[in-house]
Amino acid sequence: MTDQSSIVEKAYAKVNLTLEILGKRRDGYHDLVSVMQTVNLFDTVTLSEADSIVVECDDSDIDVDDNLATKAAIELKNRAGISEGAKISVAKRIPVSAGLGGGSADAAATLRGLNYLWNLGLSDDDLLETAASVGSDVPFLIKGGTALVGGRGEEVIPIPSARIPRFLIVKPAVRHQTGNSKTEYAFSRVDESMYTVGNLTHKLAARIRSGGDCPPELFFNQFQVIAEDIFPGWVLSRDRLNNIGVNAVVLCGAGPSIFAVPPSKEIGTAWYLLLSRTYGEEAFLVEPVSPDLES
Ligand code: C5P
Repeated sequence: MTDQSSIVEKAYAKVNLTLEILGKRRDGYHDLVSVMQTVNLFDTVTLSEADSIVVECDDSDIDVDDNLATKAAIELKNRAGISEGAKISVAKRIPVSAGLGGGSADAAATLRGLNYLWNLGLSDDDLLETAASVGSDVPFLIKGGTALVGGRGEEVIPIPSARIPRFLIVKPAVRHQTGNSKTEYAFSRVDESMYTVGNLTHKLAARIRSGGDCPPELFFNQFQVIAEDIFPGWVLSRDRLNNIGVNAVVLCGAGPSIFAVPPSKEIGTAWYLLLSRTYGEEAFLVEPVSPDLES
């Protein structure tokens, strides 16, 4: 969306319907396969002309100097070899460091917005390489929707929209073990016994491509077996969901958020109200979104 002086981009959160770790690469990253899906929980990134790159955020806990949106803007400016700057304002709604791709979504929205603001004329595919240099989840979030993602996150194959009406997402109030970045720590806890060959992911992608439904048995996240190790206390939230009848709960990214697919809208609303109002959990009832298909 654009007015005369500013560009507004929605930065959608994602869930991983599957996340399998195939093995460690020579560059220190891990090869993954994942079916990713954007949902209508979003930050708003507003961009306007400025002499230099200035990033601001309405969440004072976020260090804008050490932020993926800032990194994305600097990376694109350097690659494009231009002197223009931009003011980039991020209004946060996606929980931070939650496994929902919030920081990566802001970076992807920044790249899309700056492409317009600076008249770079780059296609989404052109932006993918810059996106990958900013972070592993950023390439998928350039387009969003539903995609089969491979490599360390830079291989993005769009697939038709998954037939899932809505998701319940809960962000447990836990902190990750000390260390540098949460994702880096999570990957450091992965061992060879956790590697798979990607069968579940390819099975789910094939099912989505053929228009089939998405039974929860096909959802899977390899990080889930070490979630309690990464986030002490995480099982309390998982058990709370289980205790109210939410059985198939799946970790989002490297956690700690969890998603589940309610069997109906009414049950989803009941779960959401119970968890947020009675138990004080940070919960969201959201729908999948495919930005390309939005009018
Ligand atoms: O790419 P990103 O900055 O999100 O990755 C953070 C860290 O997570 C990397 O430095 C790496 O240690 C780990 N990682 C990985 N394999 C991936 C993605 C991330 O090992 N596919």
